[in-house]
Amino acid sequence: MSERIYMLPFWLRAWHWVNAALILVLIVTGGSLHFAQPDLPLVPFALAARLHDIAGVALAALYGFFVIANIVSGNWWQYVPKPGGFIKRCLVQTRFYCWDIFWGRPHPYPPTLAANFNSLQQIIYWFIMYFFMPILLLTGLMFLVPEWAPQRVLGLDGLLPIAMAHTAVGLIITLFMIGHIYLGTTGLKVTSLFRMMITGWHEH
Ligand code: HEM
Repeated sequence: MSERIYMLPFWLRAWHWVNAALILVLIVTGGSLHFAQPDLPLVPFALAARLHDIAGVALAALYGFFVIANIVSGNWWQYVPKPGGFIKRCLVQTRFYCWDIFWGRPHPYPPTLAANFNSLQQIIYWFIMYFFMPILLLTGLMFLVPEWAPQRVLGLDGLLPIAMAHTAVGLIITLFMIGHIYLGTTGLKVTSLFRMMITGWHEH
């Protein structure tokens, strides 16, 4: 018999799905702009550019909401790696995902209200949300308003490193999302964690 805990407030779930939808739009339009093909566009260039700008500005505003809501609610603490065996917990969790899970062994650190994330989730979510997302958004905003970008960097046009960082971080977040969706299937049932992100109830 499974048990349930009400784990995730509405604001967090709403943020998560709007964030995921905007990022999907940004991946499709960003890919379309990066690999622009006049004869065979995934999304026509002008439309892709407009949608990318609108979704990017919306994502920046939503990110502001995420940071403020995390501070006000205290949820930011979930993302902070805790000392006292952090590396060991990451290794145990990696072994679980790579090996133990295929033998039906139980999760080594099941989520609780006080510690919603395991150590690997903590460090990965921390980097994505507090390191890569700010770089993605700041470089994107500099593209939109080029006067905000440095004039020159190491003797090169200042927009060049901005463009490279924006594309590289966009790729990192796309790869994160693929791994993230796979790990989303590792709950009690394949659908349990996706359902939790919709209803807020965690099953274990
Ligand atoms: C269609 C795309 C996505 C799906 C299906 C999805 C699915 C999920 C699922 C099942 C969870 C719960 C499991 C867990 O706590 O680890 C989750 C949590 C989370 N996801 Fe996603 N996700 C998507 C996109 C994204 C993106 C693009 C980001 C960030 C850039 C993101 C960031 C997060 C964060 C930070 C949490 C933890 C929220 C919290 O409990 O405080 N997700 N996601």
